[in-house]
Order: sequence, then structure tokens, then C-alpha cells
Amino acid sequence: MVRDQHDGFNIQPSTNPTSAEARTAKIADPGFGNIFTDHMAVINYSQDKGWHDARIVARGPLSLDPATAVLHYAQEIFEGMKAYRLADGSIGLFRPQENAARFNLSADRMAMPQIDENLFIEAIEQLVKIDMDWFPNVDGGSLYLRPFMFASEVFLGVRPAKEYMFIVIASPVGAYFKKGADAVTIWASENYSRAAKGGTGAAKCGGNYAASLIAQAEAAKNGCDQVVFFDAAEHEWVEELGGMNLFFIFDDGSILTPPLSGTILPGITRKSILQLAKDQGLRVREERYSRQQWEDDSNSGKLLECFACGTAAVVSAVGKVKSSRGEFTIGNGSTGQMTVKLRQLLVDIQRGNSDDSYGWVKKIT
Ligand code: PLP
Ligand code: COI
Repeated sequence: MVRDQHDGFNIQPSTNPTSAEARTAKIADPGFGNIFTDHMAVINYSQDKGWHDARIVARGPLSLDPATAVLHYAQEIFEGMKAYRLADGSIGLFRPQENAARFNLSADRMAMPQIDENLFIEAIEQLVKIDMDWFPNVDGGSLYLRPFMFASEVFLGVRPAKEYMFIVIASPVGAYFKKGADAVTIWASENYSRAAKGGTGAAKCGGNYAASLIAQAEAAKNGCDQVVFFDAAEHEWVEELGGMNLFFIFDDGSILTPPLSGTILPGITRKSILQLAKDQGLRVREERYSRQQWEDDSNSGKLLECFACGTAAVVSAVGKVKSSRGEFTIGNGSTGQMTVKLRQLLVDIQRGNSDDSYGWVKKIT
């Protein structure tokens, strides 16, 4: 194990920050992932030094040699999390230790070095502190944080790199789905799989998203907001969306989500919803669910509600499922009562409007 040579962040504020006026205009209607704050956190890794040179610097382009390993073999992982302006005016992160732990699981799968969880969280906190004027004052607004790590060694041999960069950038965001969307429509992909057993489905690596884009494009071409993937072996068992986990609520008081079989991302929203649903007295089931059963239960009315969840999308109802075979509607096609309830419970905790009895919110001081 390499000694970690990290000894505090070197803070180098931007010499050319965005003016208050320009910032106000930018964050008035931010959308998702379009605008960025003035700074970034950067930490370097090399085999001999471990993690070193932790710094906060002006956000700007990276200069990469064309032979940088990540550009060829995609050794890259990332996280997605949000900082919220809390009801009492302070700033909170939602379960950041979970993101740090998942980042290290992704790193392990991609043969990348581990990063100390405290260092991961400190990088995020330092960035949020320096860019704290960037919280958008819009409904559902937050500061989306994107920590990522990539192989920065200049080398074309196929083996794990010996040098990496860890960077965190921040993006003021509003809703992920377009305004006015009640329930989303999803496309059941017949042609593509997202992940197979033994693959990288449970890791948050860029390659998974690259592989999902063609199916997402097919969904968009068919008027759908998102794509739902099925298992690679039988193409029958529901897995997840391109960037969200799925839940199903039945007329017998149960709620189901596909189990963490190694091919889906272990969502932190998923984990939180499982707890909140249990607290509501729902019978929680982490079980396989087939596409045929999904259609049958929708048509019979046994399936009352369905929703997708994730950091970016929060909790978004799924109203309709389309595929080349036809389409079916869940409930009356709009957001159901329990979906509204679970979303509210989650958002109230995230934004400091209710008791944080599980200690999920970490305040930035
Ligand atoms: N599944 C995939 C493929 C994702 O990209 C995400 C988003 O991060 C999720 C699920 C939801 O995970 P989380 O709730 O941790 O954001
Ligand atoms: C997130 O929810 O944070 C993600 O990374 C998913 C992505 C589709 C934005």
C-alpha cells in the first residue's frame, strides 16, 4: 500500500471569477449539466507518491497527451451527488460516505487505486465552500457534484495505468427531466444490453454510459425519455434505466426493485427509498421482475405505480412503457400517490425540512 502524501488542500482561487451579475443570469434557469462553477478540486496519483498535490484551482481545460491511457482504454470512473441549501440556510451533502465507498468499489473493478474516503469528501467540501454562491434558487435546484478519476499515464500498453487524476467539478442544476413532465415514458430496449454477469454493470464507469447511448438514442427516436435495460442472458428480467434504478408498487402493499445482482448500479437513492418504503409499512421486495409480468400486472391493475430514482432524477414516475412490440400504461399514466409520498419524504430529508433520523445529511461547516 502506498503512503498517502496528502497534507491539506492548496487553495488557489480563480483570478478571473464569474461576475455576480453573470452568475445570477446563468443560474436563473440552469437545466441539467449545462453550466459550471468557477473552480475544481484536483488530486494527482502516482504509484510512488500515492495521492498528492491536492488543490482547488480555477476550472479550466485539461491538457492531455494524445497517448493518455484513458483516451484509449477508458479507464475512468465517476460519481454523481448533490449539495443542497438546507432550510436553515446551511449546506448539506446527502450520504456522501456512500458515494465515497461506491467510488472505491468502482475503482477496484476498473483496476484503479483506492482513495481515502475522507480525502474524497474533503475535496467535495472544499469545492462547495469556494463556490457556495452558485446554488440556483429554482424549484428542485441544487449543486450537482461530479467527482471522477481517470488514467493519466501516457502509455499505450494494455495494463492498469500507474498515474491517475481525481477531479471534482460542480454544476448548478434544476430538474433532470424537461419542465412540465409528469410521468416519463420509457423505451424497452430489444436490441441492446447494458451489462452482463462478470462485466462492469455495478461500477460507475464511463464505458457503461458510452455503451448505453445508442439505446438511449433509440428511445429518443421513439419519443421516450429513457431506456430500460433487461438482463443480457435472457433479455427478460428488468434491470434498470440508463441512469436510474426502478421501483414497482403493487396493490398488495408491496414494493419491488430488482436485486443487486452485480449487473446494476447499487443506487444510493435506491437504498434510501428501500428504507423509507419500509418505514411507510410497505413490504419491501428485492426480487427479479420479468418484462412479461410487468406488462401483465400493468394491464390487470395489480401494478399501481412505477418510478425511476437516482441523484439526478430524484424520484420520477414512469407512466408508459413502449417497445417495438407495442406499449402499455401503468396506473392512469401519471404520478401515483405513493410515489409522491416517497419522493416528498426523501426530498424533505435532503433539504433539511424534516428530521434526519438516519443521519443521512452531512453539513458542510
Ligand atoms: N443506475 C445508474 C446506471 C446510474 O447512473 C445512477 C445514477 O447515479 C443510478 C442508478 C442511481 O444511483 P444514485 O441513486 O446513487 O444516484
Ligand atoms: C446521477 O444520477 O448522478 C447520474 O450519474 C446519472 C446520470 C444519468 C446523470
